[in-house]
Amino acid sequence: MTIMVTGGAGFIGSNFVIEWLSKHNEPLINVDKLTYAGNLQNLDVLEGDSNHIFIQEDIGNTQAIDQLLKDYKPRFILNFAAESHVDRSIHSPEEFIQTNIVGTFHLLESIRNYWNDMSNKDKNNFRFLHISTDEVYGSLESSAPPFTETHRYNPNSPYSASKAASDHLVRAYYKTYSIPVLTTNCSNNYGPYQFPEKLIPLTIHNALRIKDIPLYGDGQQIRDWLYVGDHCSAIRHILKEGNVGEMYNVGGYNEMTNLEVVNTICEILDELQPRLDADSYKSLIKFVKDRPGHDRRYAINATKIEKNLNWKPTETIETGIQKTIQWYLNNQDWVANITNSDYRTWISKQYT
Ligand code: NAD
Ligand code: TYD
Repeated sequence: MTIMVTGGAGFIGSNFVIEWLSKHNEPLINVDKLTYAGNLQNLDVLEGDSNHIFIQEDIGNTQAIDQLLKDYKPRFILNFAAESHVDRSIHSPEEFIQTNIVGTFHLLESIRNYWNDMSNKDKNNFRFLHISTDEVYGSLESSAPPFTETHRYNPNSPYSASKAASDHLVRAYYKTYSIPVLTTNCSNNYGPYQFPEKLIPLTIHNALRIKDIPLYGDGQQIRDWLYVGDHCSAIRHILKEGNVGEMYNVGGYNEMTNLEVVNTICEILDELQPRLDADSYKSLIKFVKDRPGHDRRYAINATKIEKNLNWKPTETIETGIQKTIQWYLNNQDWVANITNSDYRTWISKQYT
């Protein structure tokens, strides 16, 4: 038996792959194109693990993916591969359309071919799990109830629109071709191996270098935050017991404004790594120009996965952020290796 993961050199994918291989003794085929966000160093701890088979490939390369499916015959395929950063989608949407929509379509076509040749027994056990986001639902008013699985799709950024399109394709392949799919719509993740372009790792990164911590607009936008290990455990629950064809919202019950998140990080850093000048890291916070089309609030109602699959997050924002900061402090070599000239070009384009 084998499983296939796409995008397993990225942030959530690498966390998933490492945890999965620590719990299961079966080969895992990790297919990743290695874009700027994919990093083989995320997988260093798997060196020497013969169950980890890494293949550098694009999910949209039908010929190559068809061959991999023939060769390895996975019982599960999990699709983490995507362009994932909203701000980049605003600057250059094309890659988002190519990977998130066209790439997912090609992957589904490969899976359809593979599915057609499968025995009935293998068909019964096969699952395709597509990892998506709460951003497909759009923005919530401050007093509105959190998103449930039946909330209308209303995406506002090229990123969320491309993820919404991919979710629709996945659903269509279930309805039309009976491919046993599962979709997760998760809130904002944070934790080890997150590229420092997203709010939490960017804040830690800049604070440790005594650089401005940029907050868009008034900093009052609300996100629900989930520790990445809790997202990975939700995915394992859904893979094992989820109802085929259904969507599952996954969230951390941690709704916070961006200013609250950044203040929390600064307070923990003030304790863990006090500044030489004894000032608080909070003095680095700088309000900058808002993101165009910035969604005001996301919030997840995770009752379905909690009730039906008995899943709950284990980390609070305080314990999760503490762990995350400690990981970044312990892994400054990893940070140094990825904050190369491409990274610096992106940061100067985005923040000047
Ligand atoms: P990431 O940007 O860190 O990683 C994406 C990975 O996909 C990278 O390793 C990249 O090399 C790979 N990839 C990109 N295009 C590819 C292609 N065409 N073929 C093969 N590989 C390709 O993203 P992440 O934060 O780990 O997110 C993973 C998934 O989870 C995405 O689908 C994202 O939409 C979803 N998600 C993310 C969050 C979050 O907060 N980060 C929340 C909810 C859902
Ligand atoms: P981000 O981590 O990019 O995730 P997403 O846009 O997918 O929610 O951003 C989280 C929130 O933080 C979002 O409201 C935008 C805001 N933000 C800032 O205020 N400053 C920043 O430098 C970044 C990257 C994000």
